[in-house]
Amino acid sequence: MSKKELKSVDYGLEKIFEDAQDFLPLLGTDYVEFYVGNAKQAAHFYKSAFGFQSYAYKGLETGCKEYASYVVVQDKIRIVLTTPLNSKSPINDHIVKHGDGVKVTALWVEDARKAWEETTSRGAKSFMEPTVEKDEHGEVVRAGVYTYGETVHMFVERKNYSGAFLPGYTSWESEYNPEPVGLKFIDHMVGNVGWNEMDVWVKWYEDVMGFVNFLSFDDKQIHTEYSALMSKVMSNGNGRIKFPINEPAEGKKKSQIEEYLDFYEGPGVQHIAVATDDIITTVSKLRARGIEFLSTPPEEYYRAVPQRLRDHDHELAEDIETLRSLGIMIDADEEGYLLQIFTKPVEDRPTLFFEIIQRMGAKGFGAGNFKALFESIEREQEKRGTL
Ligand code: FE2
Repeated sequence: MSKKELKSVDYGLEKIFEDAQDFLPLLGTDYVEFYVGNAKQAAHFYKSAFGFQSYAYKGLETGCKEYASYVVVQDKIRIVLTTPLNSKSPINDHIVKHGDGVKVTALWVEDARKAWEETTSRGAKSFMEPTVEKDEHGEVVRAGVYTYGETVHMFVERKNYSGAFLPGYTSWESEYNPEPVGLKFIDHMVGNVGWNEMDVWVKWYEDVMGFVNFLSFDDKQIHTEYSALMSKVMSNGNGRIKFPINEPAEGKKKSQIEEYLDFYEGPGVQHIAVATDDIITTVSKLRARGIEFLSTPPEEYYRAVPQRLRDHDHELAEDIETLRSLGIMIDADEEGYLLQIFTKPVEDRPTLFFEIIQRMGAKGFGAGNFKALFESIEREQEKRGTL
């Protein structure tokens, strides 16, 4: 065991970032909605490969003629996969332009009307005015505002609702229920924005959402021989919602952020980091089910790990050979260490991917791994001819 008592980080409801403002209290992430070309097949992928469970459904059978939505869950993570049912739906326009991707990050609130009023009065562009939806289980109030690109934050108030997901959905029972892989909750979600736009969006999250910038990485820290990026991490007051924001930076070759912006045709969600408390089991299962990860860092990376941890007075509880065989990376800071690994993009356009993360005390984002990670991403960019 480690010298210091290292445990998974549990951010309580208490305010941990003193500069954050209280006008928008957020209880957590409610759901993430993807717009996809074929929701039925996407739902199957998230079940069979990522271990999500069938949960709720909306579509022709429930009287919705415009689109079909499949909701899948794993512990606290809810993913909604939505596809349009005719060519006139605006959902099509989104898919034509961006490909499959994240449309909505829904945030769980006590009062959705107030959340919408507080944010729109501070300059947020409305996506959906406060709307009450009802069924026999009660009512849900939702309201939405645009963030970067065409991405939306939806505020969800469900204190008067006892149904499974949202009014209009039916529970989705399936005979195919693959085992979960141990994914627990969304740790953070990263957005890519355009050249010189990072600080614009940092200010937006500060002014409109009351978030604070608690970590920054500039292009001197995040670069390889070829490409660079800059990143600032925004958090709400209780630390439950963390949105790092990246922008590309000049390098010898094309930044991975620029590659994303080219293929997504604008700003959007780059990756969703999902937490596990047993990354070895989780990644073993994901690999067995066909999830592809970025290439494993070289031998010398793993040889340097024990010293990197000792520098911060920590000891690794896991077997390093096992971590190496699975391609899991390790980073440390004063408070502990973290284990992380990144998937390849989960669609054909090199856009959205997932991160699997296990925090053993550390509250960072793996800055010590950026170089190894980016070299790995560049090997993929090289294969795509986009470096
Ligand atoms: Fe991340």
